[in-house]
Amino acid sequence: NYYNTVLHNDVLIPNIGFGTYKIKGKEIILKVLEASLSANYRSIDTAAVYRNENDIGLALQTLLPKFNLKRSDVFLTSKLISECIDRHNDPLDQCMRNVVGKLKMVLNDFDIEIIHDYELTPTRRPKILMQTAGHVSGAARFYQRSDLEDEDPWKKDKKIFGVSIHPIYGGWFAFRAVIIIKNHICENLEEKIPKSCSIVPHVNQIEFHPLYKQEELVTYCKSKGIYVQAYSSLGTTTHENFLLNHPVVKEVARLESKSEAQVLLKWALQQGIGVLPKSTNTSHIEENNQLDFSLSDKGNMALPPLFPNLTPSLLDPAWIDIDRAVDLNQELRNQ
Ligand code: A2P
Repeated sequence: NYYNTVLHNDVLIPNIGFGTYKIKGKEIILKVLEASLSANYRSIDTAAVYRNENDIGLALQTLLPKFNLKRSDVFLTSKLISECIDRHNDPLDQCMRNVVGKLKMVLNDFDIEIIHDYELTPTRRPKILMQTAGHVSGAARFYQRSDLEDEDPWKKDKKIFGVSIHPIYGGWFAFRAVIIIKNHICENLEEKIPKSCSIVPHVNQIEFHPLYKQEELVTYCKSKGIYVQAYSSLGTTTHENFLLNHPVVKEVARLESKSEAQVLLKWALQQGIGVLPKSTNTSHIEENNQLDFSLSDKGNMALPPLFPNLTPSLLDPAWIDIDRAVDLNQELRNQ
């Protein structure tokens, strides 16, 4: 439905979450979280590298009672710093200790934990991400708490947690580490690690907007029942305000009587993809969670073919032919 998606382990995840990247400082965090809870966001996305986890925790302690909410009413996501594994130098048992230690620290506070391979975001390494797109989520593994709870009391009351890994850069270690916890194997790792003991990942968070549709990856995830969450739905991470100011987006917004941001967010939601808009502006925070409308066929049709078959090398706005995009959309409307 519009509000939530049921993950394949029956956990409900809100389709709209509040992103907090680069939002820092106790007062600001308190202000934006107050605005977001008041605007009915029930999912908050952070990460260790955002360096705002503590302030988010403190703000929620104040705000949850104020909004008459329980901790379990809010879906909290964080991400381990992938550097907690020195994948090139640490021996496996060290990697394992690092990951297990971090998970123990954070799992009391979060519903999902993802290993944050932020080096691999499209902004930084577009080619690698593209080349391996089919595998990024394919090799990732998430674990359900129920798989591990028998052995480890510290995982109590968690809905799910996960470790997402990357095939090239050795998140693989983390994968094995979690298996090791499960099976309490401390020696002779190679021999005792089961070959296939993974659970299909529940969520894959990727950059996703009309300039970067990652079709192959999205199709793959959907075929496996993996819920895709978009970050940077407004395209600002790689393109600043290019999309928000794009004539086609503006035209669709006008047709729909919505803001450009709402059109872009709805464009993702209508494809079954969750969004994590971030903002420090109270009215943006509100409008970004007012998406209970449908892009009409006209508006919706105008967007998907906006820039077909873009490859990362074409992500540079200089390559994009705005006039051509406008013509294309005009042609579509006339059909
Ligand atoms: P602001 O804090 O002024 O709202 P992305 O999700 O692609 O990373 O985009 C985040 C950026 O987009 C932020 O800089 C934010 O700025 C801006 N933004 C968020 N919501 C809106 C909106 N509804 N309209 C315009 N800009 C927005």
